[in-house]
Amino acid sequence: MIELSRWEHAFNIELEVPGDKSLTHRGILMSALAMGDMELTGWLDAGDTRSSLRLVQALGVEIREETAGRLVLRRGPAVHEPEDVIDCGNSGTTMRLAAGLLAGLPGLSVLTGDASLRRRPMARVAEPLREGLGVRIWTKSDGRAPIAVLGGGHHGGRVALQVASAQVKSALLLAGVTAEEAVSVVEPQATRDHTERLIAAMGGSVAVQGRTITVMPSDLRGLSFQVPGDPSSAAFWFALAALQTGRRVAVRSLLFNPTRVGFLRVLEAMECRVEWSETGRVPEPYGAVAVSGLPRRPVAVSAEEVPSMVDEVPLVALLATQAPGRSVISGAEELRVKESDRIHVTATILEAMGAQIEERSDGWVIEGPTPLKGADVDAAGDHRMAMLTAIAATIAEGPTRIRGEESVAISYPAFFEGYQRIARIRP
Ligand code: S3P
Repeated sequence: MIELSRWEHAFNIELEVPGDKSLTHRGILMSALAMGDMELTGWLDAGDTRSSLRLVQALGVEIREETAGRLVLRRGPAVHEPEDVIDCGNSGTTMRLAAGLLAGLPGLSVLTGDASLRRRPMARVAEPLREGLGVRIWTKSDGRAPIAVLGGGHHGGRVALQVASAQVKSALLLAGVTAEEAVSVVEPQATRDHTERLIAAMGGSVAVQGRTITVMPSDLRGLSFQVPGDPSSAAFWFALAALQTGRRVAVRSLLFNPTRVGFLRVLEAMECRVEWSETGRVPEPYGAVAVSGLPRRPVAVSAEEVPSMVDEVPLVALLATQAPGRSVISGAEELRVKESDRIHVTATILEAMGAQIEERSDGWVIEGPTPLKGADVDAAGDHRMAMLTAIAATIAEGPTRIRGEESVAISYPAFFEGYQRIARIRP
């Protein structure tokens, strides 16, 4: 339990956020397919990415953690069947991407996770792998984890996905690297494209045509790259800046991949001030972003935009409580199957804090602006719900108590250190 209070002070700060979670997961997991070392500098060291490290270690990948945020992964001549069941902790990305990765690796792998991960849908990844590519994969009879994959023997094919999910797409593409023929995946909406970019950067063959991504079987080589800052972590600080006048937050070395910057586009649509400056493009575009100024307009978010800000959508709801007018967020039903039911938990938290928010099956309708008040909140064991509440607490009248705040360790272990540092700034 942590107790937080309202902030009255103005600030103008520049900070860095930890490395991108999606890129770190992929760098770690794909080391199991790479000939030669995989080197990640600025990787995210957090609960979720430790789950991916445990997984590749169980397959025999050698891991060297060096100083200055450098991680070196060496597959050696071959990977092997894991000795035991692999615990993916809270990490959906680890489990779903591994489902495709393990299709091409030897032996039987059994993956499980914590109570939250064992509640999440795995049939969405098992079915297309099994039916589309002949992967030998099983889930529990309710379509949830534990899951088992027996590697070897899958084929190529073309799979049209039912859900817009980068995790499911990535599983299929990773299975494609080791299939005997090409694998094509058709997405209902464009989702983050880190896997396809990394396969190409590691010497694989990827072709993208509209919503169809095709991977040809290929040998991948190791890659050395710098992981830019995670836009999903930075979003909390940008929301913090946009909640009150006199606040400005700049974040250096932030991932600018266009499939990840939907939240910043929403801030622009709400007429907050967003300053961008791209500083590099390798392995993916990155740069600095600064946010200031209150939202002056309500926002409408629909299904096509959701994937580019999927983990940030609850922050859009928070901003909408402070924007004049009626904001409508729809097409976000995927949020119900995240680490918690984020549509419901967000509505419960913001309502307890005094917002006018109506929960819908696929999002919310929010009337703003409404002053927020402190409340006793349960983060439902969900890191992003805990951070959302902490940011909301800075404009709430009276104390806010968060239960389950330790969950921030899943994606942003130093979140509260950064928070306290900004809280202590005095003009
Ligand atoms: C991720 C994809 C998204 C996102 C998750 C990370 C990824 O999940 O919510 O935090 O790294 O591919 P879905 O694929 O379920 O949308």
